[in-house]
Amino acid sequence: MSRVLKLLKTLDSTDQKKLSAELSDETEPLPLRRSDLYARAMFRRAARISKAWVPRKAPDVALPLAMGDLEKIDVIPGLVSIAPLDEGSVVTSCANEIMLRALRSLPFLEDERQWASLDEAKRTIEQHLESLQPVPIVDWPDVTSDKTLSLVAFQGLAAHILESAGEHSGDAAYVVDLSWMSGLPVRPGNEPLGACAYFAADRTLLRIYTGHDDTMREPGGASWEHAKWHWRCAVFAYVTIANHLGHLHFVCSELMMQATRENLPTDHPLRRFLTPHIYGVGAVNTRAGLVLAPEGGLAHRLWPFTYDGVATLLTRGVSEATFEPFPDTMAAKGFEELGDQYPYATDGLELHAICKSYAQEYVDLYFPNEALVEDPVVRRWWRHLVEVAPQTGLAPLVRQQQVVELLGQFIFLASGYHAQVGADSQYLLDPTFMGGRVRPRSEIADIQTTIELLTLNSLTGLYQPKLLDDYTHVFLEEHHDEASQIFRRFQAALQQLGRDIDTRNEKRDLPMRTFHPSLLDIAVSK
Ligand SMILES: [Fe+2]
Repeated sequence: MSRVLKLLKTLDSTDQKKLSAELSDETEPLPLRRSDLYARAMFRRAARISKAWVPRKAPDVALPLAMGDLEKIDVIPGLVSIAPLDEGSVVTSCANEIMLRALRSLPFLEDERQWASLDEAKRTIEQHLESLQPVPIVDWPDVTSDKTLSLVAFQGLAAHILESAGEHSGDAAYVVDLSWMSGLPVRPGNEPLGACAYFAADRTLLRIYTGHDDTMREPGGASWEHAKWHWRCAVFAYVTIANHLGHLHFVCSELMMQATRENLPTDHPLRRFLTPHIYGVGAVNTRAGLVLAPEGGLAHRLWPFTYDGVATLLTRGVSEATFEPFPDTMAAKGFEELGDQYPYATDGLELHAICKSYAQEYVDLYFPNEALVEDPVVRRWWRHLVEVAPQTGLAPLVRQQQVVELLGQFIFLASGYHAQVGADSQYLLDPTFMGGRVRPRSEIADIQTTIELLTLNSLTGLYQPKLLDDYTHVFLEEHHDEASQIFRRFQAALQQLGRDIDTRNEKRDLPMRTFHPSLLDIAVSK
């Protein structure tokens, strides 16, 4: 450990030379600059983790061990703090934490080199990066077409931020408006991200507004492909930094994990119910907090923003975090007329209904006659959720049904919504589909960004406990058989949903598998 401390605490020029020599063998085949120590070190680290990973399965979800205050690390002081130690495991050693903190102090090298051709990029990805990636859940054809962009908005990465067009949108019925992002400061050489895409009632892409040049463009016109590239990159940045990292990891999953472990006794029925769904949260959020989110971290480097820009996006995700039930969110959109032309709602509502029904049956079993509302530890747990993150929209606890709604929504978030905002292989293996930085006259991720994005994405391929697995070992002895029967009904309903999604996909323009239960994890653990 002393050697690690000596090597990585300061990372002076001698340390950097040593690190460079160590990195040579494993990163030699990649077209990164030798001086790009950060990208090379991160790639080596991710490759080693991926290759050594032992799949985590249901038996790894241990019984709760303790209740009480958790040690925390600040990610955004006053806004986000994470509890690094998961139940029963030491997720980050002192040496590991020092190394992660030291890596982000490596020189900030902005490598603007582009791929010589798309073929060259694809060849490099296939040879050196693809084996580390999770398998794409959908194969998108013709990734740069207008039709594909429309499908991204109605059933892909932007489906949850699709909105009704406002009165000033002319013939458009729907929009995905991220034009405000062009106000986020970027580093020299990059164009500010930020665009709004307009769609007709039949989902046809009508036009795109780009904020960096304050221009509206229509299909086939000058710079149309560049406008589409802007929109796709803005969607990827917003969904990943604000929705995935800020909203889901740093607020909803972290908050539920902390509130549950700090307030509910280990033999409380709610603690047992939530145990699988908060599995691994400390480990993944520690990695995200130390590697991805900080100044000089991976997000700061692979996106074009200054750190103020990254922090603004993260803060926006934190402030927009909500436990609003998914059916309420969908009802507010008012998209009923779309039917299965908006598959995000079709499949998502069914998944949510199954999660809520499971929560309802379980709560009714242990807490007949509203008993849960009077339980002092449940009231303390609820107050913790409300007081630490008032933006999530929880009202004072009055009715048992509020807890049922929250539990159902939390399972939906941890399993379903996590796939919506985080199953990114499908968007990243072709560097013309989505990227990080947008440079003038270019519609493809540059070499450095491609490798950094796929380095980050490789960590989402680590096998974690699945939603369709048996977690009845965490239930209490009291009512164990009845609780297990409830769980089996939950699993049977999920299996049926999988078959129904398969059937619906036969008629869709492109399959949507985001909410397919066979692909979902039990928790936000990667
Ligand atoms: Fe994630």
